[in-house]
Parts: sequence; C-alpha cells; structure tokens
Amino acid sequence: MIPVATQRQDLLAALGGEASGLVPTMGALHEGHLALIRRAAAENDRVVVSVFVNPAQFDDPADLARYPRDLERDAALVAEAGADLVFAPAVEAIYPSGFATRVEVAGPSNRWEGVARPGHFGGVATVVAILLNLVRPTRAYFGEKDYQQLVVVRRLHADLALPGEIVGCPTVRDHDGLALSSRNARLSPDERHQASAVPRALSRMADLTASGQIDVERLIAAGSRELAAAPDLVPEYLAVVDGETLEPLTVVRPGARALVAVRIGTVRLIDNVALSAAGA
Ligand code: PAJ
Repeated sequence: MIPVATQRQDLLAALGGEASGLVPTMGALHEGHLALIRRAAAENDRVVVSVFVNPAQFDDPADLARYPRDLERDAALVAEAGADLVFAPAVEAIYPSGFATRVEVAGPSNRWEGVARPGHFGGVATVVAILLNLVRPTRAYFGEKDYQQLVVVRRLHADLALPGEIVGCPTVRDHDGLALSSRNARLSPDERHQASAVPRALSRMADLTASGQIDVERLIAAGSRELAAAPDLVPEYLAVVDGETLEPLTVVRPGARALVAVRIGTVRLIDNVALSAAGA
C-alpha cells in the first residue's frame, strides 16, 4: 500500500535528500495524469503526487461541488504509476485559519481562460506556490493540455524564485484525438462524438501551418469551419498566440500556439497545439 500523507510535516519526513518529483493534481486521475506520474517516476528517486481539489481556483461553486473525488481509486493508480507518496491535504492544511495571501501572475493570466474564469489563475498560482514550497521538489510536472496554466506556472516559478524545475509534458489524447480530461465523462455519447471536432480543428491548423500557411486569419477560418461542423459545439475562442506571452499573433512565428475553448452542452473543453511553419 502506498502511504497517504495528510499533514504537511509528513511530506518532509518522507522525502529525504534525494531527487524528488512533484505532480500536482486535483484527483479524478486518468491516463493524462498517469503519463506525468510515470515520467516523474522515471526521472526522480522519489515522487509525490498531490491530490487536492483547490477551492481557490473555482469561480463556480457548483463546479467545485461536483468535482469527482475518489481518493482510494486515485491512490491505487498513483501507486501503479510508480509514485511513492500521495499528498492529500484537507483544505485547512493548505489554507489554515488566518490565511490571507494570494498570488496573482498578471501578464499571461489576463487573457483567454483568465477572462472566461475570473480568479482562476490566481487560485492556481497560489496553490502551486504553496505546493512547491512545501515539497521543494527537484522537478515539478505539468501538462501542456492546460497550456495557459503551464505558462502561468513558469512565470510564477521564475518570478518568485520557487524551488526546482518546471517540466512541461505533452498532451495525452483519446483514439480520436480528444485531449483526456475528467470533464469528458460528462459528455453524452453524441456530445462526445461531436467533441472530436476540437482536435480536428487544431490538427487542420497545424497541418496548414506546416505546409506554409502562416496567415492567422486564414488559419482561424479553417479551424472554425471544422468546429462549425459539430452542431452542438459553441466555440468560445479560437486564437493563435505567442507561446510565451499568449498575446494574439497575425502571422505565425516560431513558438506560436493555437488555443481553443468550446462549450458542448454544460461541458467546457479547452485544448491547444503548437504551430510550426515549414522550415521554422
Ligand atoms: P488537474 O486538472 O487535475 O491536472 C493535473 C495535471 O495534469 C495538470 O498539469 C494538467 O495539465 C495535467 N493534465 C490533465 N490532462 C492532461 C492530458 N490529457 N495530457 C497531459 N496532461 C494532462 O491542473 C490542475 O489539476 C490544477 O490546476 C493544479 C495544477 C493541480 C493546481 O490545483
């Protein structure tokens, strides 16, 4: 059985002085999370997986309330993936009585998801700063699936001189290209089918870019046509941005990224892809 720590001090006792990896999660683990954990296990002597549904990053209380929680299942998956410790703190262990600090990462938090979910990235930045300081990992692993989050975390880490190294990991996708997400389970079979328009739109944009199309307006038009083929899919944004600042581009340049958010029924999905022009 893998140990499950609930107290801060248990972490330090478990970690010793070896190379340690941290994989922050909110539980409801799937293959996307497990890929991060397996990589962390391959690259470090000890791996901690945090499972904490962070109230500070939910702008919608209903979303927080319905977030799936099954620590026993998650702990078994974490063990199987090769980690050494699950850190599953109660809310008070992260935000004790009197807690009064909030970390805001201005630049990359301001657009896209930051507009759609006010306060979200402040909540993410705050909990990630706390986790990095508690665990002091050699490396901390984050998915490119949440590309804007990865950019915000990199900025936070650099600006506050937080410990360790931030490692970005590729998005794990389902058979039809849909990025794995705990939200996918809330799609009806028909909605799940329509959701594959999201990775199709991104692949189309990446393919066009690779074959020399670098005009962003045209790329977005092509991606939008793919999205429009799914009748119940409501696009929120489809953009081509600089991969570091997340500011919109008019012409693809090295490091560019396509970002997308859509709604299907009550479910909101986000995804992204790197765009690289021929010869770039
Ligand atoms: P959560 O949504 O549980 O995701 C935990 C980590 O898994 C994140 O770094 C996320 O980008 C990564 N991930 C999720 N789906 C993935 C996929 N299909 N492929 C690759 N990686 C994937 O993101 C959070 O939790 C929270 O905001 C957190 C960082 C833990 C702070 O509370």
